[in-house]
Amino acid sequence: MSTTKKEADTRGLAGQTIGETAVCAVNQTQLIYRGYEIADLAANASFEEVAFLLLVGHKPSSGELDAFSEELAQMRSGLGEGVLSTVERIARETPDAHPMDVLRTAISLAAHEDPDCGDNGPEAELRKSKRLLATIPVIVGTHQRALDGLPRIESDPSLSHAANLLWLMTGQKPGEIAARVMDVSLILYAEHDFNASTFTSRVIASTNSDMHSAVCGAIGALKGNLHGGANEAAMEMLKDIMEDTASGDMTVDAWMERAFAEKRKLMGFGHRVYKNGDHRAGILRDWGIRYAEQENPDTRKWFDLGDAVQKIMLDSKNIHPNVDFPCGMTYFAMGIPVPQYTPIFVASRITGWCAHIMEQHQNNRIIRPLAEYTGPELLEWNG
Ligand code: CMC
Repeated sequence: MSTTKKEADTRGLAGQTIGETAVCAVNQTQLIYRGYEIADLAANASFEEVAFLLLVGHKPSSGELDAFSEELAQMRSGLGEGVLSTVERIARETPDAHPMDVLRTAISLAAHEDPDCGDNGPEAELRKSKRLLATIPVIVGTHQRALDGLPRIESDPSLSHAANLLWLMTGQKPGEIAARVMDVSLILYAEHDFNASTFTSRVIASTNSDMHSAVCGAIGALKGNLHGGANEAAMEMLKDIMEDTASGDMTVDAWMERAFAEKRKLMGFGHRVYKNGDHRAGILRDWGIRYAEQENPDTRKWFDLGDAVQKIMLDSKNIHPNVDFPCGMTYFAMGIPVPQYTPIFVASRITGWCAHIMEQHQNNRIIRPLAEYTGPELLEWNG
């Protein structure tokens, strides 16, 4: 394929519409979940409401929301001992294993004990979606506690999805603002049309494979630092900048100049669709700063550094931060270990993935595009 002009570069399927969805719309200025704009949802909905909206297809009535929340709370205890003790064993025996890999392994194991595993019908898939949603925080929390040398704890049915996730990881009941900041971050992360991990899940589902297989593939895709792994990478980058500039020998400007000269990708910046800014980023930055100022003032400095980096990036390259940039600082201010940032993303995006897997199965045709061959001309094996 010849790409003489930059705008004709369609590598990575850039600019190509490759299917339809009723789950989500993304354009330069808006992100819409089943008709509702993200800023509206972040300001007015809970994560449970958004999860219901994505999975079931409409805004829940208060009765539907109560039943859904209660069902999720009950399902939190549904994982077998085999899954949880394996997660703990991995933490003991290979503590360096990335939590995304451990989560992928745990979900693969959980598939064997899910009675609906091989059933791709809509009722079974909705049940599986809820089970996955309810139990992913249990896997994440159990793994983190085991890494910390602590025994696992039971979910608290009185807590929201977001608050229970924090409880399971830390053993401390989160305050109101911590629970709300986590809730908002989960709302912002829940869905994003045909992003790489969701597209992966749809490709797997399109072969008539099952939901757990599609979710395992999606976790693999999300882990990369060009996608969900960017929230961890963004925080690691800020830590590097803080360390390199701490002595005063190097300024933030000089650090950035060096990065530009080395043609480094700055993590948490840029987006395939949003060329004028990812408006999720501003929403999460504001919540992160609010949390830092109220609960952990020492961490306010990370947002100041982030703002400086953001300004240089915009002035020099006209590239805006994406949602992963403030996410790194926000989770850091909340004291969450960096390697758990992307698994927390999974605790949210599981709703979007499952909504897409169900949509794919309900109107399926195998996803099998074509490739333009660029290899040698026809050769003779014995020639
Ligand atoms: N740092 C430095 N340069 C960048 C960056 C960045 N973060 N992002 C884009 N550019 C440059 C890119 O190198 C290219 O330059 P050139 O024309 O000289 O080759 C130009 O900007 C245009 O890039 P693009 O075509 O807009 O990039 P893309 O659509 O192929 O990739 C991206 C999008 C998000 C993978 C990329 O911006 C990137 O690698 N960002 C850093 C990783 C990151 O933050 N990922 C999170 C994505 S959003 C949320 C999520 O999925 O979790």
